[in-house]
Amino acid sequence: MSTTNSDRGAWGSRLGFILAAAGSAIGLGNIWRFPIETETHGGAAFVFVYLLCVLAIGVPVMIAELTVGRTTGSNPVGAFKRLAPKSLWKVVGALGVLTGMMILSAYAVVAGWILKYIWFSLTGALAGRTSDEIGAIFSAQSANGTQGLVLHLVFILLTTVVVAGGVHGGIEKASKWLMPVLLVLLVLLCLRSVTLPGASKGISFYLNPDFSKLNFAVIMGALGQAFFSLSLGMGAMITYGSYLSKKENLASAATIVCLMDTGIAILAGFMIFPALSSVGANAALGPALIFVVLPHIFNNIPLGQLFQALFFILVAIAALTSTISLLEVVVSYFIDEKRWSRKKAAWVMGGAAFVIGIPSTLSNGAVSSLTSFGFMNMVFTWFGEISLVVGALALCIFIAYKWGIRNALEEIRLGNPKFPMAAVWTFLIKFGCPLAIIAILLKAYILPAFSG
Ligand code: PHE
Repeated sequence: MSTTNSDRGAWGSRLGFILAAAGSAIGLGNIWRFPIETETHGGAAFVFVYLLCVLAIGVPVMIAELTVGRTTGSNPVGAFKRLAPKSLWKVVGALGVLTGMMILSAYAVVAGWILKYIWFSLTGALAGRTSDEIGAIFSAQSANGTQGLVLHLVFILLTTVVVAGGVHGGIEKASKWLMPVLLVLLVLLCLRSVTLPGASKGISFYLNPDFSKLNFAVIMGALGQAFFSLSLGMGAMITYGSYLSKKENLASAATIVCLMDTGIAILAGFMIFPALSSVGANAALGPALIFVVLPHIFNNIPLGQLFQALFFILVAIAALTSTISLLEVVVSYFIDEKRWSRKKAAWVMGGAAFVIGIPSTLSNGAVSSLTSFGFMNMVFTWFGEISLVVGALALCIFIAYKWGIRNALEEIRLGNPKFPMAAVWTFLIKFGCPLAIIAILLKAYILPAFSG
């Protein structure tokens, strides 16, 4: 059904796919959210649990998503429909499409701020200011509703133009040159940061674990962050997998993408924590972390303005390749299931993401009721964390107990006849991942809700 639709497209090469999938994974999740989560959850112990979640749950779930995507050649809803016709499993796919739309609507708000900060850097608006002044500038710009809406719109437009261009022409071409630039910029900033005076305190916070800080809220944070950062649990990797050829080795592709994503997150920590301790900033700064602290830090280092501009350009690039994948999930659904053209799907759904994002944009100081409600943060918690974890759990159960591990292994072996990790993967998808996810959800959310 879907594969006859020429608007679906396909990847031009293995490298193109890997870079596009890594582009989806690497984004604000690594550079903006990972340091925030690490800071609020106590540093190195969180990083340790995070790495464990990536390795034991992230990698197998990514292999699972790519497998379901490639075997069906379909969007998340179509994939479940094909593998389990006339059942309710398609609801899991629909939750993924909805989640993609909701994350996009809030994500583009933060990405819009990044555009503003590129402008600030280029015009020198933050140069020579104290951290209090920079904080005030951040609050003022995030509370400016009209400007926020314009920035949000610009970011959605950039995303829509690429997605309307199609898988090969748009996404792949963009990722191919954007990702290597990103890596080079990040390494430069890390080198600058770890050589600052006073950097060692931040490095120790980041690398010396204090395991007494671990509890289930921290573990849930690490799991949610792993799924968010790896773009798992809402069908992005089902969609990207659907454009893959049967020759592709899914296990190695997934492992490479997870390694790249985790490498970038770890690098982002090395960029931020040494620099933070270097200026003695240690408060839990939340969403303001990169917007308030880094400009101040860059103001206090040689060539700071140049590094600052490079940094925000880097973050914008990373965010764009992620929003592209979020919109692509929604668009592929309308192409496959509703027979829309790619252009129509991209423009209509890009427009919808803008409209849905309006309350998120205005919830950062512009409209007080939305601000006190914390609308944008709520979207990130419900869709960027809980929905992803639930979606991944449902996928594991689906593969293990409905579609069948044997069918999945057959699909994986098409491009990887030996699949040396088959036994480990089977164990993790059948028992390891679902049990761990259920236990963490229960302990972090469900049991506390009952115990009042
Ligand atoms: N992984 C992206 C990031 O780290 C966000 C994302 C989540 C993209 C889910 C697609 C799907 O920024």
